[in-house]
Amino acid sequence: MIKIIGIIGAGTMGSGIAAASSLNGFNTILYDISPDTVKNAITEIKKGWTKLEGKGKIDSAKRLSAEANLKNTPQLTGLSNCDLVIEAAIEDIKLKKELYSKLDEITKPETILATNTSSFSITTISTAVKNNPGRVAGMHFFNPANIMKLVEVIKGEFTSDDTINSIIDTCKKMGKVPVICKDTPAFIVNRVARAFYGESLKILSEESMEPAIIDNLMKEEGGFAMGPFELMDLIGIDVNLSVTKSVYEAFFYDPKYKPSPLQQKMVESGLLGRKTRQGFYKY
Ligand SMILES: NC(=O)c1ccc[n+]([C@@H]2O[C@H](COP(=O)([O-])OP(=O)(O)OC[C@H]3O[C@@H](n4cnc5c(N)ncnc54)[C@H](O)[C@@H]3O)[C@@H](O)[C@H]2O)c1
Repeated sequence: MIKIIGIIGAGTMGSGIAAASSLNGFNTILYDISPDTVKNAITEIKKGWTKLEGKGKIDSAKRLSAEANLKNTPQLTGLSNCDLVIEAAIEDIKLKKELYSKLDEITKPETILATNTSSFSITTISTAVKNNPGRVAGMHFFNPANIMKLVEVIKGEFTSDDTINSIIDTCKKMGKVPVICKDTPAFIVNRVARAFYGESLKILSEESMEPAIIDNLMKEEGGFAMGPFELMDLIGIDVNLSVTKSVYEAFFYDPKYKPSPLQQKMVESGLLGRKTRQGFYKY
């Protein structure tokens, strides 16, 4: 039974997952390599709950219990007693494997280790875990993670059925809709979405069109909730580029997944979207 959830990474995704987890009754411990990021994330999460209370969506008892459920730790070892650790650190395979190797040392062999990776192979990540690799799975939330219902639950080559069942149960308790996926590059949604971003970036470069024209067309005529450029700004241009690069490599450099030089240039210039207050749009 999952009671204590550790979350690694307090950025866009980790903070949303921590909010969903603590609001839904799990003792939640948030860790990030940057202590300031954790501090800011907790402040923002609490502000969000105060707003929800102001709108009558939660009562003060629920807000207070969520606040009591949410803690932080300055060290990775602070996650050693967790029943489930959800890793939402940056999309870098070397870093993720190093983290899993450390988690292997500090957690109980039955602690479930779930990664929020958007594109990497769960099987590859699980090879960093020597004690019971069957406990490693994918738990891919969508942005914003405190609101979006879908969670892709990814079964790697070695993932046990018990691990998948525990993750599904936890997702449901968090009010999410879990869907089991195979361990293929970018799973389902992100793979389909590659074309949405890739083709939009090509149109932008080839036809020198304003992002807002394409975004508005897709929303007003296409019925999409967000246009591709707004969505890339929300995701983070750096995160989106890392995912595209990893999918391109995983499909043996199939040109249809080729990353865009425009995105590369934006990352080099620090124009990462909402989180840096400038991407395709200014915020
Ligand atoms: N942004 C999205 O829309 C989205 C959606 C689904 C999944 N994801 C995936 O979630 C993960 C996190 O993405 P994000 O958008 O939250 O990124 P982010 O850049 O907003 O946050 C990543 C956080 O990880 C921290 N970090 C880096 N190295 C660390 C380490 N060694 N130990 C602990 N913390 C460390 C950073 O300080 C940062 O706060 C990635 O794997 C990404 O692919 C992102």
